[in-house]
Amino acid sequence: MYTFAPATTADKGELYRELLAAAEALTADEADGVANMANLAALIWTFLPDLNWAGFYRVAGDAPAMLVLGPFIGKPACIRIPFGTGVCGTAAASGEVQCVADVHAFPGHIACDADSRSELVVPVIRDGAVVAVIDLDSPLPARFDDADARGIAALATAIAGRI
Ligand code: SME
Repeated sequence: MYTFAPATTADKGELYRELLAAAEALTADEADGVANMANLAALIWTFLPDLNWAGFYRVAGDAPAMLVLGPFIGKPACIRIPFGTGVCGTAAASGEVQCVADVHAFPGHIACDADSRSELVVPVIRDGAVVAVIDLDSPLPARFDDADARGIAALATAIAGRI
């Protein structure tokens, strides 16, 4: 049994340090990327409050460049997202973090869960190429800030070789 849980939710910097340490520990000895993504989605869900979706889209194929649904927690979601489409496709195509305070104001946002109000999408980059994105949705507007973007970006860097 694993008993990973945050010691505090008061300090975001500390919360993300604890999440990173748990992610490192949980994935260190496992070579299977799907198993690691599944556990990472569960860890993110356990550590971060006010989420309604947390998980991965993986890059699959290069013509046309496409994201395909990976392990996640939340409601069933759209399966394939072309690069450049929606928040996830924009993060994948640009290689840049997308922190969206109001998803209804984001051109082309793909509504997988009508409850989602804000979203954070962080590319996972390996050997200079985007191989996946980490997607977090919240029912709260403006749920994510720079500290969340930094924390999930650090996580993405740490696990890029393990998924
Ligand atoms: N909202 C995303 C689609 C994925 S779901 O949120 C799980 C987007 O616009 O790319």
